Amino acid sequence: MDLSKLIIKNNMEGNSQKDQFAIDVLTGLCAKSKNLPAKYFYDDTGSEVFQKITKHEDYYLTTTEFKILNSIKNQLPEVIGEKEIDIIELGAGDGHKSQLIIDGFLNANCKVNFYPIDISEKAMVMLSQNMVSHPNLTVKGVVAEYFDGLRLVRNQSKNKQLVLFLGSNIGNFDRIQNQGFLRRLWMSLNASDSVLLGFDLKKDVSILTAAYNDSSGHTREFNLNILRRINAELGGNFNIDKFKHFGVYNPVLGAMESYVLSTQEQDVYVSELQRAFHFDAYEPIHLEYSFKFTHGDIEFLCQQTGFELIKQYSDKKEYFVDSLWKVVK
Ligand code: AVJ
Repeated sequence: MDLSKLIIKNNMEGNSQKDQFAIDVLTGLCAKSKNLPAKYFYDDTGSEVFQKITKHEDYYLTTTEFKILNSIKNQLPEVIGEKEIDIIELGAGDGHKSQLIIDGFLNANCKVNFYPIDISEKAMVMLSQNMVSHPNLTVKGVVAEYFDGLRLVRNQSKNKQLVLFLGSNIGNFDRIQNQGFLRRLWMSLNASDSVLLGFDLKKDVSILTAAYNDSSGHTREFNLNILRRINAELGGNFNIDKFKHFGVYNPVLGAMESYVLSTQEQDVYVSELQRAFHFDAYEPIHLEYSFKFTHGDIEFLCQQTGFELIKQYSDKKEYFVDSLWKVVK
């Protein structure tokens, strides 16, 4: 399917995006505990490396969720009960999972308007290559951050909405942020719109640790890419060989944490910021949280943010849950 003519781009200028990146890098590297926001993983290279992660057997999340969605796709149209539906996907990625859900609705003779939202234009192109055309399907991709994209879509959408937020993307937020996020989502939806949310469940630490330290080194590449991106876009001189990927489970938070560690004392200069940043030996930069959930966590979140829990769909091993909620207003 040719989506290229259908992509709506967020009107944020390239320059102001670059400025925001510069400000976020400055803020993150000046902090007492250095950190960089996880959203900057997803430049074109990062999105491609992430696709590799999702196909790797150590990263069980994607294949597990794919199986769940495949087994429920023909039930969803019945549960939702609409003749025409607007499916909005936040962080749509390559669209393999979206296609499953869409097929379920098309099989049930439902009209589908699909609005994938992703910050990576590259991901949107990959998605367009994966989507299969159908007379009852329209696709409009939006290259934007989640809520900018939602606002753009909301102006066009007239039908009942089903928002997809899959892959445990929600795990990137901490337990305060995710409530804020879901409440904001609730505010942008109408009564009896639905959301389908993917949550990675708490499980044996060795399985979690392997998923975020895959044996082919894709996760390592993914994490170090953010330093390469600073080099390329902000004129940084990070020597990638002097940083090491470190992925570890924090049982108190219930989250995987990704870091890059400076393997020696060093200074890194970033020309756009006109300054250097000092690293002590083995000083970390925190890059990402991937929070893990229990069924209880999910029920609590749902109830706190104004939704009604319709159904939890899980796999046999109970590794992952796709949870269907309805907006109550
Ligand atoms: C896309 C945020 C769900 O946290 O599991 C994969 C990103 N990071 N490997 C996750 C990721 C390292 C992923 N999410």
